Amino acid sequence: MLRVEHLSHSFLSGGETTQVLQNIDFRVQKGEMLALLGSSGSGKSTLLNLMAGLMKPTEGNIYIAGESIVKMNESQLAEFRRTHIGFIFQAYELIANLTVRENVELPLIFQSIRPSVRKQKALSLLEQVGIPEKSELFPSQLSGGQQQRVSIARSLVTEPSVIFADEPTGNLDTKTEDEIITILKRLNSTLSTTFIIVTHEHEVARHTKRILTLRDGCLQDTEGAGEVAAGGEEA
Ligand SMILES: Nc1ncnc2c1ncn2[C@@H]1O[C@H](COP(=O)(O)OP(=O)(O)O)[C@@H](O)[C@H]1O
Ligand SMILES: [Mg+2]
Repeated sequence: MLRVEHLSHSFLSGGETTQVLQNIDFRVQKGEMLALLGSSGSGKSTLLNLMAGLMKPTEGNIYIAGESIVKMNESQLAEFRRTHIGFIFQAYELIANLTVRENVELPLIFQSIRPSVRKQKALSLLEQVGIPEKSELFPSQLSGGQQQRVSIARSLVTEPSVIFADEPTGNLDTKTEDEIITILKRLNSTLSTTFIIVTHEHEVARHTKRILTLRDGCLQDTEGAGEVAAGGEEA
């Protein structure tokens, strides 16, 4: 469902070109959950932003659900992102003056879906991430882990084919990190959504069935290295 071909990217800043990604190739099956592991500065966020269509690569191609997102213009991309892609950020990025439920409903407002349907979908997802009782509170009234649950619910409300998560547990303590990863794994197995989780922590990556490791902008060969000591999938 996702294919990255001969992808390279460099940034131009202050007259200097810095090569950040070099000749990246991989495929992701529908419904897979994989980790993109690498130390800080290895190019993880750049790769994620390219796959999410937030910027164009210097070279190479990216296909999602059979379509080349590299060839799309801005309005095609915007529409494609709205319908196919969900994003989870390290810092949650919730809107402070909207309630939890309104935050989750927000992506649906751009799809002109009826208010009663929006509400029902948002409440159902808040139930699935385990915080149905928080729906009428504001983000500031929630813990970090709870806010990330809201952000997970928001990313799923449009039923995207793929979710990109950039260090989703980077601001959380170990116990909360485990809770969030457990939720992501459960959602991955109940919905058929593909999840790509960016992390610099082996502890997070080992929960997925497959790990792609980035080092200095190059992909290392670590296919299938995940889930070694994770104790298997929960039901
Ligand atoms: N907009 C940009 N302009 C110039 N250099 C950038 C830009 N974004 C990222 N970089 C550089 O690209 C490299 C990889 O960054 P990034 O993808 O954010 O890595 P990671 O997410 O793995 O920490 C770093 O050296 C970073 O400084
Ligand atoms: Mg990053």
